[in-house]
Amino acid sequence: MQNVEQEIARLIQEVNYEEVTHLFESLSGGKRLRAKLILKIASQHPKAPLLAAIVELIHAASLLHDDVIDEASLRRGVPSVNATEGSKTAVMLGDILYSKAFTELVSFDKEVARIIASSVTALSKGEMMDVKMAEHFNSDAALYLDMLYLKTATLIEAAAMAAAHLANKDVTRYGIYGKNLGLSFQIIDDILDITSDAATLGKPAMNDFVEGKCTLPYIYLYDALSDEDKSRLTASHAKELELQESAWILQKMQEYACIDKSFELAKQLSDEAMQAVSDDAELVAILQTMIQRSY
Ligand code: IPE
Ligand code: IPE
Ligand code: MG
Ligand code: MG
Ligand code: MG
Repeated sequence: MQNVEQEIARLIQEVNYEEVTHLFESLSGGKRLRAKLILKIASQHPKAPLLAAIVELIHAASLLHDDVIDEASLRRGVPSVNATEGSKTAVMLGDILYSKAFTELVSFDKEVARIIASSVTALSKGEMMDVKMAEHFNSDAALYLDMLYLKTATLIEAAAMAAAHLANKDVTRYGIYGKNLGLSFQIIDDILDITSDAATLGKPAMNDFVEGKCTLPYIYLYDALSDEDKSRLTASHAKELELQESAWILQKMQEYACIDKSFELAKQLSDEAMQAVSDDAELVAILQTMIQRSY
C-alpha cells in the first residue's frame, strides 16, 4: 500500500500546481478499499500500484463531487472541501483528479482503460439517479438496488475486473466478486447511516433520509407499516427530522426488523462474492472486514 500512496503523491505532484497539492494533502485518505482489491488481485503486476492510485483518484473525485451534490459538510471525519473552500473549488479539484486519472489510464491496455473509464460514466449516472429518486419517497427496492449498482458497485467491480485483466485472471469471476462486494458495501453504508453516530461515521447520522434518500431499511419499513403510519413516514421525508420523529422511525425499524433484513441482504450478497473467489483467502478476508465494519 505504501507504493500506492507514493504513486498517488507522484500523480498529484505532476499536476504541478501548489494549490492542488495543498488541497489534496488536506484530504484524509479513507479506507483505500478499491486500492486493496487491485493490489490483492494483481499482486505480481508491476503496474498494480499505478492502477490502484488511478482508481483512488477517481474515487476521491467522485466523493468531492458527491459532497457538493449532497451539500455534505463532513467527509472522512473532517470538514469537506465544499464546506471549507466552497463548492467551486471542490468541483474543480474533482475535475483535476478525474482528468489526471484518465490521462494515466492511457498507459494501460485498452481493455483496462475501457473498463475503468466506462465505470465512471455508470457511477455518474448512478449519482444522477440517486438525486432524481430523492425528490419523492421511493418504495421500490429493485429500483433502489439498480441505482446502488451504478453509484457504488460499478467502480469496485471495474477495479476488480481491470486488476484481473492485468493479472491474466478470470475477469468474469472477479467481476462477480467486485459487483456483489460493492452492492453489499453500499447497503452496509446505508445501514451505518442509521445505526452509527456522527463521531464514528465522520459524517452526520441519519442524514440519508433528511437528504431524501430512501435507503433499504426505509423501504422495508414502508412496506411493513400500516397506511396511517406510511403517511407519517412519508411526511418526514427529505426534511430536518424532529427528535421525536427520528426516535419513532428507529423504534418502528426495530419492531419490523428492517435493519436485520437489510443486513441479511448485505450478507447474502457478500456470500455470493465469497463464492466467486473462495480459493483466495485474502479476498475473502476483505469481505469479512467489510461486512463487519462500523464506519
Ligand atoms: C464512500 O466510499 C462512498 C460510498 C460508495 C459509500 P468509502 O467508504 O470507500 O470511502 P473512503 O474512501 O473509505 O472514505
Ligand atoms: C456514494 O454515495 C458516493 C459515490 C459513489 C460517489 P453517498 O452519497 O451515499 O455516499 P456518502 O454517504 O456521502 O459517503
Ligand atoms: Mg454523499
Ligand atoms: Mg450522494
Ligand atoms: Mg451514504
